This record gives sequence, C-alpha cells and structure tokens, in this order.
Amino acid sequence: MKTLNPTYRRKDLEKILVSEDSISKRVRELAADLSDEYGSNDVTVVSILSGAMVFTADLLRLLEFPTRLDCLRAESYGNLAESSGPPKITNPLKTDVAGRHVLIVDDILDSGRTLKSILEYLGQAKPASLKSCVLLDKKDRRKVDITADFVGFEIPDAFVVGYGLDFAERYRNLPCIGILKQEFQESAAHEH
Ligand code: IMP
Ligand code: MG
Repeated sequence: MKTLNPTYRRKDLEKILVSEDSISKRVRELAADLSDEYGSNDVTVVSILSGAMVFTADLLRLLEFPTRLDCLRAESYGNLAESSGPPKITNPLKTDVAGRHVLIVDDILDSGRTLKSILEYLGQAKPASLKSCVLLDKKDRRKVDITADFVGFEIPDAFVVGYGLDFAERYRNLPCIGILKQEFQESAAHEH
C-alpha cells in the first residue's frame, strides 16, 4: 500500500488559517450548542452543496437529536472567486419541510447572498423553524443584512480553501482551511 504523505495536500497553501484540530474541536462545540437548541426535536438538516459536504458529514455524526438530511445546491460563483449576484437554487429539496424544524448548514458566509436566497426559498415551504449554521463567517464582506444563528469561526477577508471549500472545484479534500498561494489561484483560473 502506498504511504500517504501528509504534507502533500497542503503544499499549495500560503498559510493555514484553521487547523484540523481546531476545526474538530469547534465542530464538537457547535454540535453541543445545536443539541441544546433542539433538545429532542426532529430536525431536517439542509446541507448546501458542494461546499458544506465535509462540514455536514462531521457535524451530523455528533448531533444528539433525530435528524433528516436533505441537500440544496445554490450556484452563483462558477469558477470565479467573486460573487456575481443573487444565486440560483439549481437542485431543489427532496423532502417536504412544511411544519418541520429546518437547520441550514453551509460552509461560509461571505456576501450573504447565498444564505439570503436559501432562507427565502425555504421560508416559502413554511417550516416550523428555520435556522442556519455556517462554519466560516467573513463579516467584512457582507453585502446583504444577514447573520447566521451558529458560526464556527470568524475569518478575515481572504479567499480560503479546504474542508469542503474549493477553488475551481479543487482543494475540497484538504483537512484544514487555508489561504491558497497566489500562483495556484492564477494557474487554476487559467484551466477554465
Ligand atoms: P455568498 O453568497 O457571497 O455569501 O457566498 C457564499 C458561497 O460562496 C459559499 O457557500 C462558497 O461556496 C463561496 N465562497 C465564498 N467565499 C469563499 C472562499 O473564501 N472560498 C471558497 N468559497 C467561497
Ligand atoms: Mg458553497
């Protein structure tokens, strides 16, 4: 069997912003806060594809209340690092959330446009409650007046990858979160 090289996947990073250990500790704290919030209620967890996959997988396994899992895909970025306008919901829910407690799980709150669209979309389905949990929050970048109910880490205004977050669909498999070296941002952009 080939030996895994732990430094390989991080070599394109300028800087690690959140380590694997800090993520795992904070995800446990968030799970505890969510368990306090929901008690023994049944909650539909709506994971926002693809960025929230890794975070959702870790968080979900620590939740101590009954859950259903559904996914939404909201697209605005394409392969660019800048948001262009209100995102489109391109993959609707499979389950009916009317009268249910709904928890949105997303990777990062940036301009706030994605979460705003998703809150509007899910609000129309008349859930019993609608809350959001994001791993990362770039407060300084907010363009619309939106806050998440549960936040993992506030981070500065920098483009980050890893733990589900991508640049041009790459780096989602990094176990930590970091800032990509400028040269890799450029070479990745030229592939498209
Ligand atoms: P918003 O609509 O501007 O809040 O953007 C939210 C979405 O943009 C996230 O779900 C991510 O997919 C993407 N995004 C925002 N900032 C970053 C980043 O630093 N790295 C990777 N993806 C990001
Ligand atoms: Mg995303």
